[in-house]
Amino acid sequence: MSKDIKKYIREKYKNKTLHFDEYMDESLYSEFGFFNTEIVRSSKEGDFLTSPEVSKYFGAFIANFINKTNPQGDVLEIGAGTGSLAKQIDQLISQKLYLLETSLMALNKLKKENFEVEKNPEKLSNKNIDLIYMNELLDNIPCSIAINEDEKWYEKTINTDEFKYELTDIREENLEWIKKYNFHPIDNVELEIQYNSEKFLDGVINIFEPNYILIFDYGYEYKDRHKKPYASLLRTYKGHHLSTDPLMEPGATDITYDVNFSFLKSYFEKKNFEVELTYQYKFLDNYGYDEIYKKLKNNFQKTSGVDQLKIKSDLVGLEAIHNERGLGGFYTLIAKKI
Ligand SMILES: C[S@@+](CC[C@H](N)C(=O)[O-])C[C@H]1O[C@@H](n2cnc3c(N)ncnc32)[C@H](O)[C@@H]1O
Repeated sequence: MSKDIKKYIREKYKNKTLHFDEYMDESLYSEFGFFNTEIVRSSKEGDFLTSPEVSKYFGAFIANFINKTNPQGDVLEIGAGTGSLAKQIDQLISQKLYLLETSLMALNKLKKENFEVEKNPEKLSNKNIDLIYMNELLDNIPCSIAINEDEKWYEKTINTDEFKYELTDIREENLEWIKKYNFHPIDNVELEIQYNSEKFLDGVINIFEPNYILIFDYGYEYKDRHKKPYASLLRTYKGHHLSTDPLMEPGATDITYDVNFSFLKSYFEKKNFEVELTYQYKFLDNYGYDEIYKKLKNNFQKTSGVDQLKIKSDLVGLEAIHNERGLGGFYTLIAKKI
């Protein structure tokens, strides 16, 4: 598979510059891409496990948030993957739940399960959607890579003969993005430019004009970036393990990166949203963690045998999505239109 995709990329970008975000886009979403194969990747059989795959209760907290927020319209999940999260939430809310998913394999599976799901947001433009949520979506939206040398920004491109990195002058829109969000260079640190995430969010906000947006992802705040001991926040996953450099196996590994939540906070504030930035474990605490945990603990004590083992496994999952040093340490951003 990776041979075919390299050939495809070489031919498509012959005599053209291949920027890193374009490479990431081809590696993840082209016909040979990581998300367009037989397996839905965010599953036990796939390559990584997300909060709704780890605990069947993750959706209950989001449903509590939705019910408390009481949006004046319907709800949209972007990047639904296996649909686990949608299933958990759908039964607990009165609003209609719509889904967006780009991976054809995942999309077809979701359709079979009778979800109203589309690939392009424009297709749902006639729906009255007031609340949008996404879990681990933005870390998969292709980013560009900027490098600062002698006070000048460059960006990474890929030499498609040898599949190795080169540096080129930065594109105007990427330079504007850095200036707009005021990201100063840090010595020996690359900057993942989320201009494509900005464009993507712009598109979604323009189409639906939602009053509420809820985002979960792994990430960081720029003020803490210097504390991270890595030059790059990009990484790859394959079969539930960290894998090689993104250029080694295009199409066969998930390419992902830590999401810059300082960018997101500033982005939503500029769009006239009030932003609350917190950690996933705190979000769970605010939306019913203790109650769900205690109920399960009580049931655990009252049961025995296989039933007790099942509850034990539920408790382990719940603790995992709440653990500050694991999934609980992910960021949660709540944006409310002012
Ligand atoms: C890391 S998975 C997370 C799946 C799910 N949200 C979960 O928590 O298990 C990211 C998913 O987002 C989808 N995706 C990526 N870009 C997208 C886009 N622009 N619109 C809709 N879905 C997208 C991918 O195909 C993939 O299924």
